[in-house]
Amino acid sequence: MNSKDQKVLVSTFEKEVYEGLTAFPKYLSSKYFYDEIGDELFQQIMALPEYYLTRAEYEIFETNKSGIIRSFDANKKGFDLIELGAGDGKKTKVLLKELQEEEYDYTYVPIDISQNAVDGLVKNLNLEMPEVSVQGQIGEYFEVLDRLQHISDRKKVIMVLGSNIGNLLHPRAIQFLKKLCKAMHPEDLLFMGFDQKKHPQKVLDAYNDKSGVTAAFNKNVLARINKELNGNFDLNKFMHWETYDPESGTAKSYLVSKEKQTVDIDNLSLQVHFEAWESIHTEISQKYDDDIVKWLAKESGLKIVESFSDENGDYKNYVITKA
Ligand code: AVJ
Repeated sequence: MNSKDQKVLVSTFEKEVYEGLTAFPKYLSSKYFYDEIGDELFQQIMALPEYYLTRAEYEIFETNKSGIIRSFDANKKGFDLIELGAGDGKKTKVLLKELQEEEYDYTYVPIDISQNAVDGLVKNLNLEMPEVSVQGQIGEYFEVLDRLQHISDRKKVIMVLGSNIGNLLHPRAIQFLKKLCKAMHPEDLLFMGFDQKKHPQKVLDAYNDKSGVTAAFNKNVLARINKELNGNFDLNKFMHWETYDPESGTAKSYLVSKEKQTVDIDNLSLQVHFEAWESIHTEISQKYDDDIVKWLAKESGLKIVESFSDENGDYKNYVITKA
């Protein structure tokens, strides 16, 4: 085979873009929404009137902070607070402040796939809360799990907030939870946010805002391909489309090609053909209820010990241990 024909694909981004855009139907992973621009767009999403998730979790923390941290370490023996997908840490700061005030002994370990987000958060915490011991780390969920065991031999409280687990369909969520379970000692805890099933229109609106920020957020994966892989996607020739299936509880995002077109991605030596109205599936945002979370925990060797809800019942945080 001619070596020119067989392009060597190095980065995971290159490999996954190639895989997703040569598959049928086409797909791209939402983890590639997040670069400097994507982080900024997600900040804007969290402030949208339609995007209730962040405010609901914030309300839960404000209302229950003392009870939440007591569930982490009732005897104040000391622990590591590990946050997967920490982002800007705005909600977490509510808990950190309470931990400081009530003189708990802990180290905060924020982990995120975005270098930009971790750098920003660590810098901000060093300024705003210099007393907190912080150890930022970069990494992807599944890969970071292998490192978890070796962080320290103290009790671990592992947080996954923002309903971030919702990006995984149930089989992969169970895989992820099983890995977490394996990395946990009997006294370790999981503290996780699960967005709840609710009026389907409210879910749809949260991912289909009037101002178009969510559309831009989804399209950022195309912008990244243009920038980082020398692609020539015309972002105006794609539209963002959202669906929500109340039976499965799955919200799905797509980018839909408004016309027949061909896109070049030079670094992949790839031409991608789109029929008119052909889609690229970009994200899933799963919604839950108590029974589903209970089932996920059971399938993964875990059990729920406590949960906290916002007033509306839109969102819940669960405290989970090994079964
Ligand atoms: C950060 C994955 C929880 O799915 O609700 C927000 C990302 N996507 N608007 C979500 C997102 C579109 C968000 N998570």
